Amino acid sequence: MKVGICSDHGGFELKQILLPFLEQQGYSVTDYGAYVLNAADDYPDFVIPLAKAVADKTMDRGIAICGSGVGASIAANKITGVRAALINDYFSAHQGVEDDDMNLLCLGGRVTGFASAQELVQVFLNAAFTHAERHERRLKKVAQLEENK
Ligand code: RB5
Repeated sequence: MKVGICSDHGGFELKQILLPFLEQQGYSVTDYGAYVLNAADDYPDFVIPLAKAVADKTMDRGIAICGSGVGASIAANKITGVRAALINDYFSAHQGVEDDDMNLLCLGGRVTGFASAQELVQVFLNAAFTHAERHERRLKKVAQLEENK
């Protein structure tokens, strides 16, 4: 599985922990920045390229980290085909994929501890969309918004 990861300064420390952790788990990980800690950087500059890579399937899944995870999720969801959510709990990390086909996980680097974040990303990456009819139906209604229908 190809996993893209990014952060701004608020999520930089957590990204630097998660990236080698995911590589040790056997994932092919691409870093979309930030590559240096710069307190003046802006999360859209990293989240939007990652979200586009998930949308065009260059990446199978994405992980975007800012200070709270809020800005990252707002920005990522502007990209057609991205289904991003800010996740803080184990249940939502897998159910968001199983029911809602979440393809981009957002974390708060100032909110979620390192061990919890490692657990959440593993659960997210191990989960699969069920393709249940009711979930397909609901996602189709959401996707129609992207076509202005
Ligand atoms: C940056 O200071 C901070 O606002 C950003 O990382 C994020 O928390 C936005 O949602």
